[in-house]
Amino acid sequence: MPKKKSDKLWGARFEHDADSLTDQYNASISFDIRLYREDIAGSKAHATMLARQNIITTQDRDLILNGLAEIEQEIAEGRFIFSVEREDIHLNIEAALTERIGDAGRRLHTARSRNDQIATDIRLFVRDACDSVITSLRSFRSILLKLAEKESATVMPGYTHLQRAQPILLSHHLQAYEAMFARDTERFVQTRTRTNQSPLGTGALAGVSFKIDRALSANLLGFDGVIENSIDAVSDRDFVFDFHSACALSMIHISRLSEELILWASAEFGFLNLDDRFSTGSSIMPQKKNPDLAELARGKSARTIGNLVQIMTLLKGQPLAYNKDMQEDKEALFDSVDTVLDTINIMSAMLPSCSFNRQHMKTAAEANFSLATDYADYLTKKNVPFREAHSAVGSLVSFCEKENKTLAELTLEELQNIHPAFDKGALEITIESALNARAVNGGTAPQTVKKARKAAQSRLNEETK
Ligand code: ARG
Repeated sequence: MPKKKSDKLWGARFEHDADSLTDQYNASISFDIRLYREDIAGSKAHATMLARQNIITTQDRDLILNGLAEIEQEIAEGRFIFSVEREDIHLNIEAALTERIGDAGRRLHTARSRNDQIATDIRLFVRDACDSVITSLRSFRSILLKLAEKESATVMPGYTHLQRAQPILLSHHLQAYEAMFARDTERFVQTRTRTNQSPLGTGALAGVSFKIDRALSANLLGFDGVIENSIDAVSDRDFVFDFHSACALSMIHISRLSEELILWASAEFGFLNLDDRFSTGSSIMPQKKNPDLAELARGKSARTIGNLVQIMTLLKGQPLAYNKDMQEDKEALFDSVDTVLDTINIMSAMLPSCSFNRQHMKTAAEANFSLATDYADYLTKKNVPFREAHSAVGSLVSFCEKENKTLAELTLEELQNIHPAFDKGALEITIESALNARAVNGGTAPQTVKKARKAAQSRLNEETK
């Protein structure tokens, strides 16, 4: 190979150009292109700060700011030509800027390294991603609360071990999800707070030798403050972990809701009908209506869990400070943001379109002796020790099974044959009495659920005001 100086921005000490395989393997431009807005914002703040500190002239600053604005416009309109040889978003933009404005462009990288530059870009990206997810989660929670309100009189069987256990209100069940998503929202808010600290100005790892003003560039970028330790600033991606962790947990919650929609839409449950707009057909079985979207939402939780494992594995064992391994933090991050936002979006549209088979759900809530606990509680309130009451009602259930009767069909005499403490009040045990009885804070009594819904709604209003 002929001897030739490298044409890379960092190439002066190299004798030869990189092998094309090296360029391909090393480059991140195919995906970090997505950070162009953050990268340009970071550069603008940096240039503004350099001029304010008299490190570059105001003329150079203006050339830089205008050049970057033009480049941003070109990228947004798809007119900018990216090159793999220029490796990543930082070098593509810097090289294009220098082609346009000459020496001023060459001064932009004063008192900066790509290491603090990428750490800045990623933090800005994660901060925005948190904002988008927080907004979506809040709107999804409001949809859940509206649906709970609409279904406030709908009764269903509550399950443990997927066996009918006790009657509950559908609204209570939906509000349980709202509570999970409220905590998820909080996790993104906390992630945002930890993310929103500026690494800019920490250079490659040791800080820089110019009299820069880190607080100024941090402030221009809307950061709450600066990361104190320069080595920490360029080397950790724990905020990316936080983000993935919040995404994975939100998706785990969504997967549980999806799973229930899938079950409830089956003939076996028959609790709900999916809207045609949010279901699909089968290519072979003409009668089928499939809950594909809920299944995909359940399935896509796997990606976000995988992405969480990816960032943990990526960070584990890396020596301080920056290593190129870190470049691998991006694709999984982009994938998780997209997955979470798309999934919340589809769930927000699909869920309110479901129509619940209220009568069928109520019938199911009454079946299978689901009021047995209430019979035991009845005896207990007559001063029978709970264990004795439990055992008496066990015998009642067994008697009913033999006689092919429901608990409600038993006569007072039959009840008293099993336990003398039963009296005629026991004949008034119904779904309604069972629900109303559970007025304990957090319980499924209609008034309690309504109160809880109001409290959830005002928390949500408080968050969004
Ligand atoms: N593309 C790199 C990344 O994503 C940017 C930082 C590169 N820094 C370096 N010293 N090679 O992490």
